[in-house]
Amino acid sequence: MTTGHFDKAATDWDKKQRRVQLAAKISTAIARLPLSADMDALEYGCGTGLVGLALAPALGHLTCIDTSQGMLDVLQEKIRDQGISNVRPLRCDLLIDDYSKRHDLIFCAMTLHHIQESDTLLLRFAELLKQGGYLALADLAQEDGSFHDSSVTGVHHHGFDREQLAALLTAAGLIDVKSEIIHIMTKGEEEDRKYPVFLLTGHKA
Ligand SMILES: C[S@@+](CC[C@H](N)C(=O)[O-])C[C@H]1O[C@@H](n2cnc3c(N)ncnc32)[C@H](O)[C@@H]1O
Repeated sequence: MTTGHFDKAATDWDKKQRRVQLAAKISTAIARLPLSADMDALEYGCGTGLVGLALAPALGHLTCIDTSQGMLDVLQEKIRDQGISNVRPLRCDLLIDDYSKRHDLIFCAMTLHHIQESDTLLLRFAELLKQGGYLALADLAQEDGSFHDSSVTGVHHHGFDREQLAALLTAAGLIDVKSEIIHIMTKGEEEDRKYPVFLLTGHKA
């Protein structure tokens, strides 16, 4: 587990407008799922809660998991300052720690490419969904490796092939698996490098 980079980045994480805009696009896209106040949800790789806190008002309860204590501390501060009562931050690694609670919704934003054994994590997500529960996964489409600069450690995938992810999740028992491009990030002096971000959704049969 590599948490150093994210621990250091946590305090200033929300200062990058690009990140805040992307998180808003992701939460807006996830909110098109039939969310409801009786849902017990899990966000994996929650960071400072940019996506999760936007969705929490539409949910019954949200467990926000991350491996970076720095990120979770920033999230905890927001929860306290905003008097939020239905969000619980939790430090946990689903590929290492015991975690068996089932959820009505699992979502994961811009985190899968930081997970070496991403296929195994997707199988864990499928396992932790209740019957009928929804999965929503936002990440980079396949890129040439230029998205992250060299100071960022723990990048294990240069985006993903959406069809491969869909096939794996379908084999794991999800149905109606579909994906769409919800945002295009740009980088470079003339903003000419483009990095599409997809949202893949499905639910457990
Ligand atoms: C690019 S950030 C995205 C944060 C947040 N989802 C957002 O959109 O702002 C990736 C997050 O994944 C977390 N992370 C990295 N490896 C992880 C792991 N193995 N398990 C859980 N979280 C992890 C990092 O600490 C970080 O908060």
